[in-house]
Amino acid sequence: MLDLLIKNATLPDGRKDISVAVQGGRIAEVTAGLSAPAHETVDAQGMLLSPPFVDPHFHMDATLSYGLPRVNQSGTLLEGIALWGELKPLLTMEALVERALAYCDWAVAKGLLAIRSHVDTSDPSLLPVQALLDVKKRVAPYIDLQLVAFPQDGVLRTKGGIDSLTRALDLGVDVVGGIPHFERTMADGAASVKLLCELAAERGKLVDMHCDESDDPLSRHIETLAYEAQRLGLQGRVNGSHCTSMHSMDNYYVSKLLPLIAESGVSVIANPLINITLQGRHDTYPKRRGMTRVPELMAAGVNVAFGHDCVMDPWYGMGSGDMLEVAHMGLHVAQMTSQAGIRACFDAVTANAAKVMHLPGYGIDAGCDASFVLLQARDTVEAIRLRATRLKVWKSGKLLAQSPATAVQLHLPGRSSQVSFLR
Ligand code: FE2
Repeated sequence: MLDLLIKNATLPDGRKDISVAVQGGRIAEVTAGLSAPAHETVDAQGMLLSPPFVDPHFHMDATLSYGLPRVNQSGTLLEGIALWGELKPLLTMEALVERALAYCDWAVAKGLLAIRSHVDTSDPSLLPVQALLDVKKRVAPYIDLQLVAFPQDGVLRTKGGIDSLTRALDLGVDVVGGIPHFERTMADGAASVKLLCELAAERGKLVDMHCDESDDPLSRHIETLAYEAQRLGLQGRVNGSHCTSMHSMDNYYVSKLLPLIAESGVSVIANPLINITLQGRHDTYPKRRGMTRVPELMAAGVNVAFGHDCVMDPWYGMGSGDMLEVAHMGLHVAQMTSQAGIRACFDAVTANAAKVMHLPGYGIDAGCDASFVLLQARDTVEAIRLRATRLKVWKSGKLLAQSPATAVQLHLPGRSSQVSFLR
C-alpha cells in the first residue's frame, strides 16, 4: 500500500497523465496512468505538479523590516546598505527570529521549500547569524535553509571582518560569501575574492558572492571569481550573485568573459525584481535595466538561477515569497518571451536554483524526495502567466499547505457565470 498517489498530473517537462507514487517520504515511481492502492489518492486533474520552488538568493536577516527605522528615500543600493547599518544596532534575537519564521510561513504557502539566505557577519556579535542558525533548526522539517556568511560592509573594509566571517563558519554557516564591489578599491575587491575562495577551498565550503552589483562597466570581480574557482579546483561549487555590471560591459569584453565563466563552472544568480529596481538609478534616460545577461549566459552553458533577494526590507518594499513573481519579472526584463525562454525562467526558480544549492534528491524521479507543489495551471508557461494558485504543497510526502482553486463568480448577461483564467 502506497502512502500517497498523485494521478493525472502534468510535469514541468510537459509529460501528461503522469502518476507519482510516494512511499516513506520518497518517490517510489513516476509513470503514465498508474493505478495502485494508496492511503491517499489525489487527482491532479491535468494540473502542473512541480518540484518545490527554490530561492537561491535571499536576505532573511533583513526581511519584513520595511520602514524600520525609516524608508529608503533614494531607492538606491547604497542608501539601503546605510539604512541596514542604522537598523543593525536595534536588532534583537527575538525580532529577527519572529520575522524570519513569519517569512518561512509565507514561503511554505507559496510552495517555496528551499532558501539560500545570506546572513550579515559584519558585526562581531554575530547576532543575525545566531538568530538564523536557530531558525534553520526550527524550520528544518519543512524548509531547507542554507546560510551564507555575508560580510555586508566588506570583509577587508570592516575591521575584524575576516575573523567574524570565519567564526560564523565555525558556528555552522554553510557557504562563504563576499561583496568585492563594496571594498575600498578594485584591487581590494579582487584580494577579497582570492582570500574568500581560498578559505572556502581550505574548509570544503561552497562560495556565493555578491559580485559586481553596480552599473560600473569596468567592475571585473566576476572575472576574478571565475579565475579563482578554476585555480582552486572549485568548479561547480562557486556562484556569482547579481553580476549586474555585466549589463553595462563592453560587448567585446563580454564575448571573452562568457566562455571563461562557463569553463570555470561558476553559476550565476540574477535577482530580477531587485536588479530592475536598484540599478540604473544614476541614469537619466534611457535608463539601464541593470540585470545581468541571462539568455547569453544560458546559451554559453552557464547554470543561471533567479533569486528573490529581498522582501519588505531596506532595499525593497514589495514581495510575498512568490518565486513565480520573480520568474515573471525575469522573463520580462530579459525579454525571454519565447516558449522556450519562459520555460527556462521556470527552471531558473526550480531546477537551476536547486543545482546552485547542491540540494540532494531534488526533482520528480524515482528515488527523489517526495516534495512537490500542485499548481492551478496546465503547464509552466501558464503557471508564470497567472502566478498560479498553489493548490497543495507537500514535503517528503506530507501535506504542508493547501489553497482553494481561484474561481471568480461573474454576473454578466449571456456569459458563463465562472471564470478561471486557464486557457
Ligand atoms: Fe543580495
